[in-house]
Amino acid sequence: MKIALIGDLHYPSKNGVTKPIEQKILQARDEFFPYFLNQFFSEQVDFHIALGDLTNFGKADEYKEVYQFIRQYDSNFVHVIGNHDLYQMGYDAVQDFTKQKPYDFMEKDGAIYVRLATARELSPDNYGGSLDDQQLLWLEKIIHQSRTKPVIIFAHHPLVDTTKFSNRDMYSIDPAIDMWSILSQKKGKGFYLNGHTHVNDIRKKEQWNFCQCCAVMDFPSIRILTIEAGQISFSTKEILLSERMKENLLILKNGVEAFVSEPNASEITSIRELTVCF
Ligand SMILES: [Fe+2]
Repeated sequence: MKIALIGDLHYPSKNGVTKPIEQKILQARDEFFPYFLNQFFSEQVDFHIALGDLTNFGKADEYKEVYQFIRQYDSNFVHVIGNHDLYQMGYDAVQDFTKQKPYDFMEKDGAIYVRLATARELSPDNYGGSLDDQQLLWLEKIIHQSRTKPVIIFAHHPLVDTTKFSNRDMYSIDPAIDMWSILSQKKGKGFYLNGHTHVNDIRKKEQWNFCQCCAVMDFPSIRILTIEAGQISFSTKEILLSERMKENLLILKNGVEAFVSEPNASEITSIRELTVCF
């Protein structure tokens, strides 16, 4: 099994958040995003996964345009829903558009793959994560039933006090929700992949490995997850940029409203690779 992953894409609307974006930002957008998405979907993998905040403000035109790119490719695309993806519409409306349930799981070749829904609906003022009791019970059941098979979770928000910045206010799943009491019941290895904080990081806590992906505009890169022969590996592929693309990125980082750029997003941790046997 091979999976290509990206962190927060924040594809912005030409109408901006509070005012239309300037012509130079529009031009930068229309040059950078098709280029980056083409690189992403050129990866020969079983699944392409976006770890949430695919859209910048959850606007209908952002969904329409970004999915127009995505649907050009013959790919199994998985959209983990981020807080920004739900600023204008709720899970039901997003599901109608994406044709994907908010959360689900599958078992393949002896590993369990879980996609969580951690974002709150229509709640730009509270961008932290949350899971209702129903989803928590569902997750706990999966963890139990997985026994010693590896479990790989894809979520937008990290668990508090795991990866870099996950201890900041609203940068994690609500710390009042004791996710660790569920995950720590896992027998065998667990992997948790997330976005949201806009910085790269890899941490280990007991049987779990936490891999966090930064925002695309801060460090255009694709993460590759390979699961085979009793081994899981996580690696980082930096996207080569022409001088023109670098200028486009600067314009976007400084000009896209509601996008929080993290300086040195890729440099906070020097660890970009991880291999674990299970
Ligand atoms: Fe984000």
